[in-house]
Amino acid sequence: MTIARTPLIAANWKSNQRWDTCVDFATELKELLPEQFDLDSEPPIDVLICPPFPYIPLLGMLLEEATVYLGSQDVSRYTGGAYTGDVSAAMLADLECDYCIVGHSERRNVFGDTDETVAEKLLRLYDEGLVPILCVGEPLEVRDAGQAMDFTLGQLDAVCSQLRRFDPDRLVIAYEPLWAIGTGRNAEAGDAQEMCSAIREWAAAQLGTAHAEATPVLYGGSVKPDNARDYFSQTDIDGALVGGASLKADKFAKLVKICQDLRTS
Ligand code: PGA
Repeated sequence: MTIARTPLIAANWKSNQRWDTCVDFATELKELLPEQFDLDSEPPIDVLICPPFPYIPLLGMLLEEATVYLGSQDVSRYTGGAYTGDVSAAMLADLECDYCIVGHSERRNVFGDTDETVAEKLLRLYDEGLVPILCVGEPLEVRDAGQAMDFTLGQLDAVCSQLRRFDPDRLVIAYEPLWAIGTGRNAEAGDAQEMCSAIREWAAAQLGTAHAEATPVLYGGSVKPDNARDYFSQTDIDGALVGGASLKADKFAKLVKICQDLRTS
């Protein structure tokens, strides 16, 4: 069976990088992944960079001649107005962002985003035509209690009516178990596959078979060049959302190559 979904390798830079390191990263990436900088080629996988807000326009310029997508790490729940510090979906659209991460566990746990906030953010993204990368995943105590699946699918249930609005290929779901994020402790590939497969079944039941077939499901949590092959070879894992290993162009390019090799072999 051929899978129609295009794999996605997404960099989540979080609150890292400076102007100079953004420039160095793009220069190095061009040398390491020349096919992603050839507008006439059709690379077999999608590559995305989500820099901090202030560097989005810079990356937009640096990647102008590249088939590398640009994304944001978050968005305001409001359309705009008197919301000091917030960046609206319309502003992200102005900056030509294609994607936006929403519901990342750091936003949920450090900044207090609730399911309700996530639902509002999804609507803002829908209205502006951005593709959300919706993050879901359980904390360690929930996994240890054997409740990981109920918890994670419950996060999807909470925003189901918003997700239904998106076309199947205009939505990405990322499974990111909290205990694996930035800890160096990655999930077993089999466990990640089990959850991603459950997410796909959930999508089939709640959103329809087109979503189950066309919506990419990513794994995120301490993905590195030395464990990426295990994840990318799983049937229901369509790529990765990568934090730490996305900060240096050489490591990030390795992840892209590993995914590309598996796709074309
Ligand atoms: P990590 O982060 O790769 O550093 O674990 C992943 C994420 O938070 O999206």
